[in-house]
Amino acid sequence: MNYDVVITNGIVVSAEGQTRADVAISGERIAAVGPGLAASAPRGAEILDARGRLVLPGGVDVHVHLELPFCGTVSSDDWNTGTRAAARGGVTTVIDFAIPYGQESLLEAYKNWMAKAGPKACVDYCFHMAITNWDRHGPEMEQLVGMGCPTFKEFMIYASEGWQSDDRAIYNTLEKCRDLGGMLLVHAESSRVLDELIARHHTPELMRQCGARLHPMTRPNFIEAEAIQRAITWAEVTGGRLYIVHMSTAEGTEIVKAARARGVDVYAETCAQYLVLDDSVFDGPDGHLFACCPQVKKPKDQERLWQGLKDGDVSVVSTDTCTFTRAQKARWEGDWTRIPMGLPGLETLLPIVYTHGVLGGRLTPSEFVAKCCTNPARIMGLYPRKGVLAAGSDADVAIIDPERRIEVDHRTMETHADWSPYQGWPLAGFAETTFCRGRKIVADYRFIGASGWGRWLPRERAGSLEDQTPAAAVGLSV
Ligand code: URP
Ligand code: ZN
Ligand code: ZN
Repeated sequence: MNYDVVITNGIVVSAEGQTRADVAISGERIAAVGPGLAASAPRGAEILDARGRLVLPGGVDVHVHLELPFCGTVSSDDWNTGTRAAARGGVTTVIDFAIPYGQESLLEAYKNWMAKAGPKACVDYCFHMAITNWDRHGPEMEQLVGMGCPTFKEFMIYASEGWQSDDRAIYNTLEKCRDLGGMLLVHAESSRVLDELIARHHTPELMRQCGARLHPMTRPNFIEAEAIQRAITWAEVTGGRLYIVHMSTAEGTEIVKAARARGVDVYAETCAQYLVLDDSVFDGPDGHLFACCPQVKKPKDQERLWQGLKDGDVSVVSTDTCTFTRAQKARWEGDWTRIPMGLPGLETLLPIVYTHGVLGGRLTPSEFVAKCCTNPARIMGLYPRKGVLAAGSDADVAIIDPERRIEVDHRTMETHADWSPYQGWPLAGFAETTFCRGRKIVADYRFIGASGWGRWLPRERAGSLEDQTPAAAVGLSV
């Protein structure tokens, strides 16, 4: 057989189950998955012994912001450090958000993001297209879908960035998504009441007294819940497919669950930070470092989100990676409204969900793979090229040691962050070995890939969890 690599003796984990099997790679594709493949490998093929290891499809992080101009600065993980971090975390596909600068068109945003990513990306990538002005960008949607970008994004906040969408835009975009086979991703926070609460608290006395705690104090759970409810209303009446990004609340989870039960075409994602951090982080002297939108909530929200993952109300775990260094975060100077919002995350996604989900007894290994690899690929229209170890799929593989814990230390990580929300946490699930399209990019936990290896991934349409297409049916044969 024409195999270049055979990963042998490992436990292959899929969204459906797990089995002891070999995984054979030819060029950039999986050639076969099954028992005894090492025996038919040609002389010279690499035989990689994965005894005692879990062999997973590469992670698919569908929510990242690399070198994003935001909050008066630029997020500090660029397409090089961000995708190196991804590789080391076992993530082999990222989806960023191409956001028009100023008055630009969607096409210009797409070109800008291609120019940023192309030379630097170490793993595969594509973009959601951010609609920041319905009248300008709505008419471009069909063209972008035709070019391979069927997922769009709207923010219900961030007027100061020029990104905010109103109900009219969301309603219109969902209608168009329905007609074009697209999907709308929404950042759901209720801006009018949020702005009112921020204005009420924005006094020198309160800022002196409460510091970064004003961030959670001005964003009660109903800020997210009301916005999710409203976006779902527009999805329900239009029939357009909706995806709620970075859901952080128990209330939001209940609303999504109820909507899905009555047949609304809505998915929800949460992020690793909402599963393991709570708002006590804002009490410490470094509390401002943890500011992101929406902010991390309470332990009861964490538990509801884990339960939502288990029950299927929450389909995906992503990171919303938007890294800022200590110096960038220091811009706040005691005013929480000036903190660059966002956290690093790509390198720790799989370790957090594996350690706190699987080893924490909340998810099975298959559920972990479903939420971090297979479901995101299915929902975003990347399946079966991504998200599954099957003959014909891209040879994206993460091999993890199910027991070995490594203490998180930003000084030894690939991310450009000079701090970590998880500093000192002992996490299992870092990739011992990562392959991206057949190339080994992590060996013995160290990045050995290269800038420019990552490829842009065109997509025909937004997908769905029901997508069971075999790789061969879409011409992905070896
Ligand atoms: O704080 C965050 N989440 N920063 C990135 C922008 C966004 O809202 O996703
Ligand atoms: Zn957001
Ligand atoms: Zn985001």
